[in-house]
Amino acid sequence: MRSKEDDSTLQVRMADLGSQYRRIRAELEPTLLEVLASGRYILGEHVQALETEVAQACNARYAIGVSSGTDALKLALRAVGVQPGDEVITTPFTFVSTTEVIVQLGATPVFVDIDPETYNIDPQCVESAITPRTRAILPVSLYGQSAEMRALRTIADRHGLWLIEDAAQAIGARHYEEPIGAFAHAATLSFFPTKNIGAAGDAGMVITNDEQIAYKVRSLRVHGMNGGYYYEDIGYTARLDELQAVILRAKMRHLSEWTERRRYHATLYRTLLADAPLQLPVVRPYNYHVYHQFTVRTPQRDALRDYLRQRGVESAVYYPLPLHLQPAYQFLGYCAGDLPHAERAAQEVLSLPVHSELTEDQIALVAHSVLEFVQQEVAVV
Ligand SMILES: Cc1ncc(COP(=O)(O)O)c(C=O)c1O
Repeated sequence: MRSKEDDSTLQVRMADLGSQYRRIRAELEPTLLEVLASGRYILGEHVQALETEVAQACNARYAIGVSSGTDALKLALRAVGVQPGDEVITTPFTFVSTTEVIVQLGATPVFVDIDPETYNIDPQCVESAITPRTRAILPVSLYGQSAEMRALRTIADRHGLWLIEDAAQAIGARHYEEPIGAFAHAATLSFFPTKNIGAAGDAGMVITNDEQIAYKVRSLRVHGMNGGYYYEDIGYTARLDELQAVILRAKMRHLSEWTERRRYHATLYRTLLADAPLQLPVVRPYNYHVYHQFTVRTPQRDALRDYLRQRGVESAVYYPLPLHLQPAYQFLGYCAGDLPHAERAAQEVLSLPVHSELTEDQIALVAHSVLEFVQQEVAVV
């Protein structure tokens, strides 16, 4: 996720990619230099190896590296045949990529409300929104917790729909013991730098067990090409490059360790903030949460955010305005009040730093600052 703030007085940041880089620099730099010297920069052996490694980590048959998480979504939707006139049911409480690719393909996003505890799309609302024009369901596994993929797959199968999981924030997550993508026809990953596994630039991946989808995505990422200069489809420039693949391969080796760090930080917050009048993240018992974000909820969100900033703690709001109310999506005709859970969440959520490079002292500083704020509020009331 992107953080716009750049204030050197901050003691705790939402991400610390410099420290992460220094930690793995020795295992990374020799291979980066080899690739530079090799002259093979796009879709080479490291991309292929990364695809195999991510497929293994996700227990999937295929993984196809592409140029971003946004392109992964676009290619996955194209691969299952989403086309002008179709409807795709999705959540309004997500990063804009999820929706913009639907519109770019000439289809219509149909927004449905979220579960106010997990912030993931509510399967019952999905089922009520199905029409004869619905082609696909596009849930997001938000903040690192799987969406209700098993229930959604049952609905998708009952109605003959495609289920594509936007797992941009959820690499390593599990749902009923299964990795991301297991219940979907395809899942998409983002390796945006601040994701749990991030490139030094843009990168993404589509994972699937479906041979046809894999074939189509592979072709679409290189202009719809099938063999040298023969084109089966109108495609895209959506390739992954070797330097990013080298970086991602090195980071993939740390996925479990870094995920455990995030989960440990979440446990510390839960202990330190146990008595605070805040909604802490709700994790369903069948989910293994990878804490891309540790997101708390309070009606005093903006004041808490300001207070934390004064204490040198960065925090972030994902997302301040749900997509159905954004100016760019006015043409869809939604109004305030249409999706109340998403609208309220947008006013109340606040993500605290939880990344793998934090120290326990930093977590304690964040938690104590939150507690100070809460105590002040009580004193004022
Ligand atoms: C939920 C979600 N979907 C899609 C994307 C798009 O990924 P990218 O920035 O790699 O295009 C992101 C990340 O930014 C995201 O958080």
